Amino acid sequence: MRTILITGGAGFIGSHVVRLFVNKYPEYRIVNLDALTYAGNLENLKDIDTQSNYEFVKGDINDSSFVNTLFSNYQFDGVLHLAAESHVDRSISDPMSFIMTNIVGTVNLLNGARAIWSSNSDGKRFYHISTDEVYGSLGKSGLFHETTSYDPHSPYSASKASSDHLVRAYHDTYKLPIVITNCSNNYGPNQFPEKLIPLAIHNISTNKPIPIYGKGENIRDWLYVEDHAAAIDLVFHKGRDGETYNIGGHNEWTNIDLIKQLCKTMDSKLGRKPGTNEHLITYVKDRAGHDLRYAIDSSKIEKELGWKPSLQFEQGIEKTVDWYLANPDWLENVSSGAYEKYYDKQYNRR
Ligand code: NAD
Ligand code: DAU
Repeated sequence: MRTILITGGAGFIGSHVVRLFVNKYPEYRIVNLDALTYAGNLENLKDIDTQSNYEFVKGDINDSSFVNTLFSNYQFDGVLHLAAESHVDRSISDPMSFIMTNIVGTVNLLNGARAIWSSNSDGKRFYHISTDEVYGSLGKSGLFHETTSYDPHSPYSASKASSDHLVRAYHDTYKLPIVITNCSNNYGPNQFPEKLIPLAIHNISTNKPIPIYGKGENIRDWLYVEDHAAAIDLVFHKGRDGETYNIGGHNEWTNIDLIKQLCKTMDSKLGRKPGTNEHLITYVKDRAGHDLRYAIDSSKIEKELGWKPSLQFEQGIEKTVDWYLANPDWLENVSSGAYEKYYDKQYNRR
C-alpha cells in the first residue's frame, strides 16, 4: 500500500483531488493534511470521509517540527502539495501569511520529504501544485509556455514563484524527485465565495451588487476544477521527473463577458426576467497591480500525457451554478462571521 500525503485537501481544488484519489485508488492510503484556515472546510469531503483508505490530519505546514514528525511517522511515498494562501486580494492586504505558508510551509514539506527519501527515492514523488500567475501578465496576444520567464506581480504570485524555484532547487541540489504544474483559473463546486465566480453567484442569489474591478477588461483562462484534478492525477502518475507542465482551459474570457454570461444563466435558473441580474453589475476600484491577461499553452501535457479539458465552459458553468443553488447551506456556513468582515473591508462596505 502506498501512503500519499495531500496537503490543503479541505480547500477547493484539494477536496476534488482527495475525492478522486480516495475513490480511484483504494490501494492507496490518502492522508489529508490541512490547517482548516478560513478556506478549509471538511464539509467538502463529507461524502468520502468514512472510507477506510482516507485519513484527515489537522496541522499547520508552517510548523517544521510537526511536519518532520508527520513525515517520520507516516513514511509517505508521495506528496501532492496544494496547501496555500490562495487569494490575490488577501495577499495585498496581508502579505506575510502568504510568505509563511506558501514559501516557508513549502520548504518545511520539502525538508520532510528529503529526510525520509534521502537513502532511497525510487518511486517517490513530491508534486507541487502551482499557478500560471507566476508568469506575470500577457498583452492582447501570446500564451504562457513552460519556458516563459517568471514575472510575478502580486505578493501571492511572488510567493508561489518563490516556492516553485525552491522545489526546483531541491531537485537540482538534493535530487529530490519532483514535478510542478502551473494551472490557470479554476471554477466549480466548493470554491470559497471570495473568488470571482462563486462571489458573483452568491451575490446574484442574494440580489447584491456584483463588484467588477476596473473596466472588467482583464482576461482569465478558466478550467473546470474536476478537469484540473484529472490532470493532477495524470501528472502525479505519469509526468516526467523534474518537469513542469502547464494546465489551461483554452477558455479565455474578459471578466465582464464572463459575468454577463453568468447573469444570463442565473436569470433562467432563478426564473428571473432576462436582463434582471445584469443590473447588479457594479464597477469598483481596480485591484492594485492587476494582471491584464493570463492564457496557457497546455500542448505539453496534451501531447505527452494525453490530457485535455473534458467540459465546455457553458456546461461547466451550468454544473457550478446548479451546485451552488442546490447547496445554500454550504454557502451560508462559509459566508457568515469572518467572511462578512472580510467583505466589508475588501469592498469598502461599512
Ligand atoms: P484554497 O484557498 O481553496 O485552499 C487552500 C487550503 O490550504 C485550505 O484548505 C486551507 O485550510 C489550507 N491551508 C492554508 N494554509 C495552510 C497551512 N499553513 N497549513 C496547512 N494547510 C493550510 O485554495 P485552492 O484554490 O484550492 O488552491 C489550491 C492550490 O492550487 C494552491 O496552491 C493554489 O496556489 C493552486 N492553484 C489554484 C488555482 C485556482 O484557480 N484556485 C489555480 C492554479 C493553482
Ligand atoms: O490564475 C490562477 C489563479 O486564479 C490562482 O492561482 C489563484 O489562487 C486564484 O485565486 C485565481 O486568481 P485570480 O486573481 O485570477 O482570481 P479571482 O477570482 O480573485 O479574480 C478573477 C478576475 O476577476 C481577476 O481579474 C480579478 C477580477 N475580480 C475578482 C473579484 C474577487 C473582480 O473583478 N471582482 C471581484 O470581486
